[in-house]
Amino acid sequence: MMLRKLYYILPPSFRLLARRLFFLPIDIYNKIFNKNIEMVPPRGLIYTGSGDFVKTGKVFLKLFIDYGNLKPHHRVLDIGSGIGRMARPLAFFLDENGSYEGFDLVDTGVKWCKKNISAKYPNFKFQKVCLLNDLYTSSGNNAKTFKFPYKDNEFDFVFLVSVFTHMQPDEVKNYLDEIGRVLKTNGRCLATFFILNDYTLKSMDKNFNFPVNCGEYRLMDKKVKAANVAYNEDYLVNNLISGNNMAIKNIIYGYWCNHEKSEKYSFQDIVVFEKL
Ligand SMILES: C[S@@+](CC[C@H](N)C(=O)[O-])C[C@H]1O[C@@H](n2cnc3c(N)ncnc32)[C@H](O)[C@@H]1O
Repeated sequence: MMLRKLYYILPPSFRLLARRLFFLPIDIYNKIFNKNIEMVPPRGLIYTGSGDFVKTGKVFLKLFIDYGNLKPHHRVLDIGSGIGRMARPLAFFLDENGSYEGFDLVDTGVKWCKKNISAKYPNFKFQKVCLLNDLYTSSGNNAKTFKFPYKDNEFDFVFLVSVFTHMQPDEVKNYLDEIGRVLKTNGRCLATFFILNDYTLKSMDKNFNFPVNCGEYRLMDKKVKAANVAYNEDYLVNNLISGNNMAIKNIIYGYWCNHEKSEKYSFQDIVVFEKL
């Protein structure tokens, strides 16, 4: 918790730099002794969360198949594509009829993915969008009015892993409307959240909780609003998710509060929607 607080004090570009410096020795060692794994970035560049990069990607691929009905020929949209943690397993899974689009705010991640994934898999495209998010960027447009750069009814499957957990309510609402627009009828979206309900409010860990109460949602940090955001379940289901042409198919609670750690779940809670 203390380390996390210190990390939040730094401006976004310094957070990236601090990480690079911290992992520099191990990254140099891996380079010299050829320990790098295909399509896995150096540790210092992985700004998108702790945990095993390859394993987390594999766990989500299975969740995409099981809950998102993902098929190898699908056209897929990865919102907040980071530095390719989800694109990597998808590159092995999608066939030549399938395709992938990813967009993100952080240049380092988008550039790395273009160089290391699109170069080998031309049906994988990444783009940077200029939006403000106080955890990741220092300037940019407001995500609450952002229009996705894709046509209506274009995607079979859309996902956001650990992205709505860094976004404010009006931004989430706009993104859900946009997802409803770009998904094909019966297409699915899988998105992770931190969901607050009677149970999670009681059982949150003292090292991972949301002390800043903003009514319908809670923040982990008062100053860095995007650091981590958790939503009241009623508000999420009845306000944010309703009215955008999508229905909830499943809620799979994660092990941040609800279960023992297991590959059947993710750390965060998952909501699966289907376009009507
Ligand atoms: C915790 S990382 C997760 C990255 C990736 N989804 C993964 O699981 O590896 C959160 C990502 O969301 C991106 N992000 C934050 N706000 C966003 C927004 N409004 N639109 C798109 N991406 C956003 C950040 O730049 C960051 O790369």
